[in-house]
Amino acid sequence: MSNAGQKIAAVVLAAGKGTRMKSDKAKVLHEANGRPVAFYPVRAVLAVDASPVVVVVGHQAKSVEQELSRALPGAPLRFALQAEQLGTGHAVLCAEEALRGFDGSVLILAADVPLVRPATLQKLVGARQGADVALLTCRAKDPSGYGRILRRPDGTVARIVEEKDATPEERKIDEVNASIYLADAKFLFPALRGVGRGNAQGEYYLTDIVARGRAVAVEAEETEVSGVNDRAQLARSASALRERRNAQLMKDGVTMVDPAVTYVEEGVEVGPDSLLEPMVSLRGKTRVGRGVQIGQGCVISDTEIADGAKILPYSHLEGAKVGPSAIVGPFARLRPGAQLAEQAHVGNFVELKKTVLGKGSKANHLAYLGDAVIGDGCNIGAGTITCNYDGKDKHVTTIEDGAFVGSDTQLVAPVTVHQGAYVGTGTTVREDVPAGALAVSAGKQRNIEGWVERKAPRSAKKNPGER
Ligand code: UD1
Ligand code: CA
Repeated sequence: MSNAGQKIAAVVLAAGKGTRMKSDKAKVLHEANGRPVAFYPVRAVLAVDASPVVVVVGHQAKSVEQELSRALPGAPLRFALQAEQLGTGHAVLCAEEALRGFDGSVLILAADVPLVRPATLQKLVGARQGADVALLTCRAKDPSGYGRILRRPDGTVARIVEEKDATPEERKIDEVNASIYLADAKFLFPALRGVGRGNAQGEYYLTDIVARGRAVAVEAEETEVSGVNDRAQLARSASALRERRNAQLMKDGVTMVDPAVTYVEEGVEVGPDSLLEPMVSLRGKTRVGRGVQIGQGCVISDTEIADGAKILPYSHLEGAKVGPSAIVGPFARLRPGAQLAEQAHVGNFVELKKTVLGKGSKANHLAYLGDAVIGDGCNIGAGTITCNYDGKDKHVTTIEDGAFVGSDTQLVAPVTVHQGAYVGTGTTVREDVPAGALAVSAGKQRNIEGWVERKAPRSAKKNPGER
């Protein structure tokens, strides 16, 4: 975004504990749609070209630093430590050192407002002009807990009074401080040094700078500036973030049968003409191509799905790769390292782990394929199991192109079924099968005449209809 030549830096306040979360984890690290809460406001300030972005950390400082740096690689982030939380004014002062020499505008906001949009921040940039500080305000349905905006008779902003310091009259004001500001750096830090802590909470209030200069206010929607203070607000914010993400995806050509129950985490990509049925969860680094169908109830993490693939209902995929026009499920499980080539099929109750399934190959029913390399055009029968683990080490099963593995086969790894070979039903394959051979290990069938009449337990002698 263009800032009409203004230089903008940002200070994001993330030092507080977030007592109302009742959590061992710092509030801003709780996840909302796949990212920590603090990720969103930091991304919003980056979108208006703020640089540097100084994040003031205190509670669980190291973790906050690590998670934000990981979520926003390459962003101009700096971290300033506020060892003791003495108030929002004190928190911003802790960022002064990191902004030494910076002479533009400083955007200040809390790390617990994930719904703030870049366009709203941009309004502050437009509004400040010659004023010392521009601040966002909103009309609150229930203003309790917020700082109230006190205006002069001519309508200009005089100061902000915190709820705990307000008179009963002042508490009736419904215009509240959203805690998002744009201040001239030359005004900000000297003004903060003049702020005392003679108030109801004994804190250095950032809000007190407003009375120390010329302030202009910009009104915003309450929903956008509402903070995450407890778990109910976390859930509401996460739901709003999902709604936005889904709206964007639908705009980009993705069909959702019911967006209200479709969960696409931040950072997941979905191509146009793909269809997401209800109760689908797409998580982590998942990338879905074009024209992919994902059936009801699928949970998919860190998985790449190529164009035209179909994932049928209730499948669970994690760390897998699904090739073009492949078909998975219903009720399939692809674990890390499962790789399906073009047009491969994996059917119901089939589990794959660290296994390559070649082009057009099929494992359609009830199988466990682990540590296997399966070529093109193979058929893996129902009930096939790779015995890949000897209790100590994992071993590889290799099945070459065009091989046919009959139902109820155990492949005791390490073992190879060579090109075009057949494995008979019920075989325990302990030795390699040469190309073009048939492997059988089951003994010849014997029928013992009259056995039921002579030996079977009484109940087995009744007619099936009598049971
Ligand atoms: C603040 C505003 C209030 C506004 C409200 C909007 C002040 C004094 N009050 O109140 O006018 O209506 O936000 O939500 O600013 N933080 C630190 N270090 C500190 C104190 C706070 O980093 O020493 C961080 C917190 O982690 C949090 C943010 O600053 O992210 C806001 O602090 P909080 O104490 O929640 O302020 P409020 O009481 O909500
Ligand atoms: Ca507070």
